[in-house]
Amino acid sequence: MLKMDKFNNIKGFLAHEEGLFLYRLTKEYCLNGVAVEIGSYCGKSACYIGQACKENNTHLVTIDHHRGSEEQQLGQEYFDPEEFDYKKNRVDTLPTLLKNIRKHELDNFVKALVGDSASAAKNLEDNLDLVFIDGSHTFESARLDYASWKGKIRKGGILAIHDIYDTEADGGQAPKEIYEKALKENFELIERVNSLVALRLIG
Ligand SMILES: C[S@@+](CC[C@H](N)C(=O)[O-])C[C@H]1O[C@@H](n2cnc3c(N)ncnc32)[C@H](O)[C@@H]1O
Repeated sequence: MLKMDKFNNIKGFLAHEEGLFLYRLTKEYCLNGVAVEIGSYCGKSACYIGQACKENNTHLVTIDHHRGSEEQQLGQEYFDPEEFDYKKNRVDTLPTLLKNIRKHELDNFVKALVGDSASAAKNLEDNLDLVFIDGSHTFESARLDYASWKGKIRKGGILAIHDIYDTEADGGQAPKEIYEKALKENFELIERVNSLVALRLIG
């Protein structure tokens, strides 16, 4: 078994090839600084990024309010009863995230920040090496994530965006909208794997 195959068994919304792409990006671009992820869920993408951080001795801050996106709520398409806290009567993915970080020995390299993406952006440092946006896919949230984080990436750093679909029939268009906005605002596409794009901030 290759060292990264184990991450493909983590519950989540990411293809293995996309995870390997995140690993590769982090290895190359997060050499001394910090990577940020919006949308931890149960930690699938965080583990691929975190493994590269571990090898580079850098770290990932993964941000999520852990209350689930719109489509993960009770009665919706991606509702998962294992991630629902029946005492709190709400989705709570934090316990599974922490369990996965611990299981894969990434505790020292992946920091879970529990809270809203836009609020977290106000409190986190600038000059980030890599920002991966994979939070709520409503237009309002995707626009807010982009507006909150684009200015926090260092020159030459990476903005990765997940769930880019070419047509509405393939999937929601909010991530694609911010991807196209970024292309008009000093970011250039360096590579795409499935629905995951990586853009570099032109220096
Ligand atoms: C598609 S899932 C992330 C999938 C994950 N990256 C993976 O590898 O499986 C989206 C996550 O974003 C979180 N989320 C949605 N809106 C958010 C916001 N405004 N701030 C923080 N987290 C948010 C949800 O709670 C959910 O866990």
